[in-house]
Amino acid sequence: MDIFSNVAPVVGAATGLALAAFSAWYLLADADLPVLMTSVPAGAFRGKRVVIIGASTGIGRALALRLSRDGASIAVCSRSEAKLRELAAECLAAGAPKAVAHVVDVLDLDSHASLGADLAALMGGPIDVLVNNAGRSQRSLAEDTDIKVTADMMQLNVIGNISVTKAFLPAMLDRGSGHIMVTSSVAGKVGAPCSSSYAATKHAVQGYYSALRNEVSYRGVDVTLVCPGPVESEITKHAFTAEAGVKAADAGFKEDKSKRMTAERCAELMARALHNSKLYEIWVSPQPILLFTVLYQIAPTFASWVGATKVGPARVEGLRMGKPGYEAVQGLGVIFGAGAKAKKRD
Ligand SMILES: NC(=O)c1ccc[n+]([C@@H]2O[C@H](COP(=O)([O-])OP(=O)(O)OC[C@H]3O[C@@H](n4cnc5c(N)ncnc54)[C@H](OP(=O)(O)O)[C@@H]3O)[C@@H](O)[C@H]2O)c1
Repeated sequence: MDIFSNVAPVVGAATGLALAAFSAWYLLADADLPVLMTSVPAGAFRGKRVVIIGASTGIGRALALRLSRDGASIAVCSRSEAKLRELAAECLAAGAPKAVAHVVDVLDLDSHASLGADLAALMGGPIDVLVNNAGRSQRSLAEDTDIKVTADMMQLNVIGNISVTKAFLPAMLDRGSGHIMVTSSVAGKVGAPCSSSYAATKHAVQGYYSALRNEVSYRGVDVTLVCPGPVESEITKHAFTAEAGVKAADAGFKEDKSKRMTAERCAELMARALHNSKLYEIWVSPQPILLFTVLYQIAPTFASWVGATKVGPARVEGLRMGKPGYEAVQGLGVIFGAGAKAKKRD
């Protein structure tokens, strides 16, 4: 009893200190713990055939170059043939033993029937890794957004995406090995204001691929969901707006000056999850968005209150001023400033 009463305060204080140290460290983290604790050994992807859909710019492009440096053979795919050819040459220069550029339109479902076989033939063997990364975001309020825009976004980010996966899955299951990585978003975990349809697509992606993982991982096919926060890329330029066929860049949205992770850093963290295929879901984001995403999972009512009273109003006001993204909701100002002062919409 005496020993216990002597030891208990010491254990309590040590636990408190450890928790405080972890919390302080986490405030500086740009990803969740498991991915930060892993690394990629040199040459880790030698002998792997990797297909990246949505590789022409941004995250997909950075990932193609990152994997090339560690010896992966790469097929870079999207609709922009010239950019893909240039990238394939850069992949070869970076160390990829083989790099091919292949035009793929995620929206052209009929063309997906032969996609898996076509790419295996082009790459000279079965595909080990599919990175299903193509997608477009949104900058508009739900009340203003044409239902056609929501349908178009669903078709690209969900239906087309799943269709591409189904082009590669049967061969992976037949071989009893493969890895499918899908770029979701923190908007797949949190209801991001001014991106309601985009959040709906990414929540759908989360649901589909979590279920798929539970069906196929015991048969040798791993499924990893990547949830990035703001990353430097062309995402804002090409974002959907309230009106069908009008991109954010053409609707006069200003450049998003929010603190974004570089595409290279995002690619590095994705490479870690490709090397360690049991990292089933990774969150990669600058703060405070990473912290907010965690809060949403562990304290949904409190986090939703913060979302509805602080983050939402700040982002809606930001959108009204033509700010296209996370810019309006970064830093503590969102708690004590713009969000708190935001007025109701007329
Ligand atoms: N950047 C961010 O802040 C952020 C945050 C969370 C999640 N994400 C997700 O990350 C993924 C990559 O986006 P990013 O940020 O790298 O943006 P990005 O630079 O705009 O890249 C998007 C890619 O998708 C491709 N794409 C678009 N429509 C396509 C289609 N119909 N068929 C084939 N490819 C198509 C584009 O290629 P083509 O135009 O050449 O076809 C491009 O390669 C997306 O799924 C996005 O939702 C991004």
